[in-house]
Amino acid sequence: MQLTFAFDIYGTLIDTAGVTRILQATVGEQAALFASRWRDKQLEYSFRRGLMQQYVDFSVCTRQALQFTASQLELPIDLVEQERLLEAYRQLPPFPDVAPALEALAETGHRLYAFSNGLPDDLESLLDSAGIAKHFLDVVSVHEIRTFKPNPAVYRHFLKRSHTEAGNCWLISSNPFDLLGGMACGMRSAWIRRSQQQHFDPWDRQPDLTLASLDELGQAISRTDQ
Ligand code: LAC
Repeated sequence: MQLTFAFDIYGTLIDTAGVTRILQATVGEQAALFASRWRDKQLEYSFRRGLMQQYVDFSVCTRQALQFTASQLELPIDLVEQERLLEAYRQLPPFPDVAPALEALAETGHRLYAFSNGLPDDLESLLDSAGIAKHFLDVVSVHEIRTFKPNPAVYRHFLKRSHTEAGNCWLISSNPFDLLGGMACGMRSAWIRRSQQQHFDPWDRQPDLTLASLDELGQAISRTDQ
């Protein structure tokens, strides 16, 4: 049976910790802590912007989160360096399991979409530099409706754009908040638990699948679907 896959991008296909190496030149051994705080703040800003209905695009959340993190950790980063880091954010590396997994899924006739908070331009830049753009039928960005995950409007927008029934649509994400958002709109869910430090929220729902990487995705989905 042909299924639709909505792949989250940041943290799922693209490694946001990839910026750590570049941060090292600027903030030394605080780089890993900085990268993780930066990412958390970026998401917090997207949640707050969504709740306040004061949308700015995700690159603004990223920039402002960078400035906040520098200030909070008392590690000043000048404007030139900020631009360099933000440019690096548009070319973050993919996780190594991504290309083969996408290729295998696309070969079996499933419909693959990128589905993200990111701006369409930034997503294209990421997917192109990772060499994986060719596997996707389309890129669906929250920018089309000016709000962020996990607003239910975003998941409904995805289903409408991809002409998919929620029950035939798998959301693939490393972000528990994203999966809970998709499940609340009837989507099926696979949690890619990229590290043992990641934990699923103890809410009323668990993901349909939990996988350590994308390697097992195709097989796990076909077992679930039988
Ligand atoms: C995204 C964020 C949730 O790519 O990581 O949508």
